[in-house]
Amino acid sequence: METKKVAVIGAGLMGSGIAQACAQAGYEVVNIDTFASAIEKAKENITKLFERKVAKGSMTEDKKKEILGRLNYSENFEDVKGAFLVVEAVPEKIEIKKDTFKRIDAVADPETIIVSNTSGLSISEIASVTNRPQKVMGAHFFYPAPVMKLLELVRGLVTSDETYDTVKEFAAAIGKTTVDAPEFPGFMVNRILVPMQNEAAFMVMEGSKPEDVDNAMKLGCNHPMGPIELTDFVGIDTMLATMTGLYNGFHDSKYRPCPLLETMVKSGMLGKKSGQGFYKYDEKGNKIGSSF
Ligand code: CAA
Repeated sequence: METKKVAVIGAGLMGSGIAQACAQAGYEVVNIDTFASAIEKAKENITKLFERKVAKGSMTEDKKKEILGRLNYSENFEDVKGAFLVVEAVPEKIEIKKDTFKRIDAVADPETIIVSNTSGLSISEIASVTNRPQKVMGAHFFYPAPVMKLLELVRGLVTSDETYDTVKEFAAAIGKTTVDAPEFPGFMVNRILVPMQNEAAFMVMEGSKPEDVDNAMKLGCNHPMGPIELTDFVGIDTMLATMTGLYNGFHDSKYRPCPLLETMVKSGMLGKKSGQGFYKYDEKGNKIGSSF
């Protein structure tokens, strides 16, 4: 059987993880990013991750080589050609998403489906800048994308049934379970999860220790990670952008972003990826202390 090609745009935390998940499932993958530094970081991260898996025995050396052999990187949008599906995973700003969709639409094969990994922006608005809005929909992955089992499927106003069915099949092929989420800010998971993380940030701003807030939810509710740890893990900037999207989208003050998050982003404290967020991290990403 011919190996199908998937293109993933954006080699940040989400894009590189989505590319990994597709390559692991047997797809030929090209992960495209216009920043060479993002590609270098993605390659370094996956090499380290796979080396850890081989060392711990959850992946063989042969499997590692096989998967990495299917995972290619490029700085050129032209390389989406030949892909049956393009997954967009660029920063969560509507203008960046629209510009990226225009660029993909201009070079992708006419039958190619384009999905956005947006965590809450309007799919219909993103689709409107393309000449194929019926072939556009949302496919929202969760971090870390290779591990988390859920894929939220979000149809735009004109997404075709054929597009939806193809993306649902793709989700099953990469081992994800889907839910149909409404095209409203935050879709399903983030509308529930992110206000919880925001409330946790308010508690730190009011003087609670990050460890106490995290332990409360881990030990009191069996969450695998506390809300503060999770915010550092996903990125303070990403979480703030999602919360701001809820606030602007619903025009409801119950979604007001915590000012501490805004100050942290302005100061460059972006969480684990920048070495400091609510907690401090060493260069290997291990937690070494608290910032508050
Ligand atoms: N990327 C890829 N794979 C990763 C990874 C990463 N960042 N982190 C861990 N893994 C893999 C490991 O390689 C390991 O795989 P093997 O079993 O094949 O060796 C497996 O995950 C388990 O890892 P660990 O044993 O090291 O760690 P763990 O048992 O603590 O699990 C976790 C790690 C799965 C991330 C777990 O802590 C967890 O479930 N955390 C909650 C994650 C969560 O809530 N995500 C949602 C975020 S919200 C979001 O994404 C929405 C948004 O729009 C912002």
